[in-house]
Amino acid sequence: MIRARITGTGSYAPAKVVTNFDLEKTLDTNDEWIRTRTGIVERHLVVEGENTSDLATEAARRALEMAGVAPTDLDLIIVGTITGDYPWPATACIVQSNLGATNAGAFDLSAACSGFLYALAMGCDRIAAGNARKVLVIGAEVFSRIVDWTDRNTCVLFGDGAGAVVLEACEGDRGVLSTHLYADGSQLELLYQPGFGTRNTPSVEGIARGDHFVKMQGNEVFKVAVRSMAEVAKIALDANGMTTEDIDLFIPHQANIRILDAAAKRIGLRDDQVYVNVDRYGNTSAATIPIALDEVNRAGRLKEGDILLLDAFGGGFTWASALVRW
Ligand code: COA
Repeated sequence: MIRARITGTGSYAPAKVVTNFDLEKTLDTNDEWIRTRTGIVERHLVVEGENTSDLATEAARRALEMAGVAPTDLDLIIVGTITGDYPWPATACIVQSNLGATNAGAFDLSAACSGFLYALAMGCDRIAAGNARKVLVIGAEVFSRIVDWTDRNTCVLFGDGAGAVVLEACEGDRGVLSTHLYADGSQLELLYQPGFGTRNTPSVEGIARGDHFVKMQGNEVFKVAVRSMAEVAKIALDANGMTTEDIDLFIPHQANIRILDAAAKRIGLRDDQVYVNVDRYGNTSAATIPIALDEVNRAGRLKEGDILLLDAFGGGFTWASALVRW
């Protein structure tokens, strides 16, 4: 059986770091509130001239280097993002050009914070179907350009960054064992960006209302996120005939420490099974899981055969899990 194996990981966060104390200077907030409610201490933010495709390209270069794969060997590039450089064309096409991946198809995938796991699933399926041998999957976001920096309810939560993996067709029992994807669009207004698509086109009034900024009802999102992440984790375990005892590392979407803790508890995982880095990055949306995966990989924390459970939730709503034998 052919399955997709992760042969390289890479990540990149902008050099500029903004702490909670920095935010205190311009916003009616404080370190204590942000830390206790979210677990976030600092986040990386782009500076002028730095764009989603730049972060994605750097993360991709690092993943390709680790895998020992040349850009020209890639069959496909998928970027999970909702903050691409342009509404269209795809940021993946810019990454394709930056890398010189002249034999690859490229597209973006919009699933908000679940974007990386959705993209991973597409890459795995393309490989399993025999239509690709080497796929680059990226999660990359620049949320700092779509949050209202005067809205303390949202702006303190997010950061910018990118993470990437190289998937290669392999035989044997290592690799991505399963992916599960779900969505519920009936409550989209709990977490969304109202402008400016074709439903709400650019206008002076829309800009004055701040329609181009993230809108969120945090309390409601919190409850659905915990429930959905727990459910989709259990579905992954059941599908593979595994229990929580089989999990060496749980890498959840890093939205907020309280969501992570509540979801992990509901799934039945111990603290030492859960990877957390939200304190240093904030919520980088589609980039959180590949950044975390790259961190643990480069820290030498993963052994061959380890079982990893990846789990995401985001706007849409969308939620997803992937079970990986490393
Ligand atoms: N600093 C200080 N006070 C703040 C604040 C900030 N950055 N943001 C909000 N507050 C205030 C609110 O205005 C409110 O004040 P009020 O009672 O005077 O109106 C108070 O804190 C409590 O707000 P509340 O929304 O009840 O707080 P909370 O405990 O629910 O925490 C979130 C807010 C956003 C941290 C929490 O709801 C959450 O984590 N939601 C999930 C968000 C998320 O992760 N989304 C992405 C999912 S992919």
